Amino acid sequence: MKNYLKSYPITHTTIQLRDREIQLTIVDAPDRFLDELSREDSEGRLFLPYWIYLWESAIGLARHISEKNETFPEKYILEIGCGYGLGGIAACQAGANVVFTDFEHDALLFSIHNAQQNGIDSAIFIQMDWNTPCFHCKFDLILASDVIYEEQNWQPILELLQNLLSDQGTALFSEPNRKNADGFFKYLRNNGFTFEKTTCSISLDQKTTLINIYTVKRV
Ligand SMILES: C[S@@+](CC[C@H](N)C(=O)[O-])C[C@H]1O[C@@H](n2cnc3c(N)ncnc32)[C@H](O)[C@@H]1O
Repeated sequence: MKNYLKSYPITHTTIQLRDREIQLTIVDAPDRFLDELSREDSEGRLFLPYWIYLWESAIGLARHISEKNETFPEKYILEIGCGYGLGGIAACQAGANVVFTDFEHDALLFSIHNAQQNGIDSAIFIQMDWNTPCFHCKFDLILASDVIYEEQNWQPILELLQNLLSDQGTALFSEPNRKNADGFFKYLRNNGFTFEKTTCSISLDQKTTLINIYTVKRV
């Protein structure tokens, strides 16, 4: 075990993609850390440590990237709210230069470890809150797996797309068919974006979840 994964108990899992596997190291039995890692900001807003779970949306996004058989040579890709980094790792394996971001420091430690154990040595990892993005460049592709669950995040994520997605760029969102997701994509549509939706089923921990993948572009 790498000591930079701190004192978390860890477990290993293999994610099967179309033509390859991705090895992930994740927190074992994460429920027991929910209380310990939850925090409130000065305005009393509660932040739950969602990064400690591996979400079906990330598996759906990684499979989508591999099943599309796309390659991203020379492409600059930003992943927001990367958690364990699965989507970004799939994009790296397709040839992209990926910047992994999350506002949780320990999520980045795991994503660094996971990228390295899958042979990726040239990615960039930055602790970043999507409310205060730290880039002045544009990205060809933005990856966003299960990040639109709270409506308070819609405006900053829209602004991030407006500011950081290149004119011909694409954003890939994945989400587990939540009721409020339609609202986010209508909001994007009302603000200069268009999208296509596909659906897949992901089985994890003996449960099958419908995952929607949205391919978003500027109008
Ligand atoms: C539901 S998890 C999804 C993680 C990963 N993308 C996946 O699908 O497995 C949401 C992720 O967004 C991150 N996150 C939440 N709010 C954020 C913010 N304001 N800025 C950056 N990351 C944030 C969390 O730390 C967590 O990793």
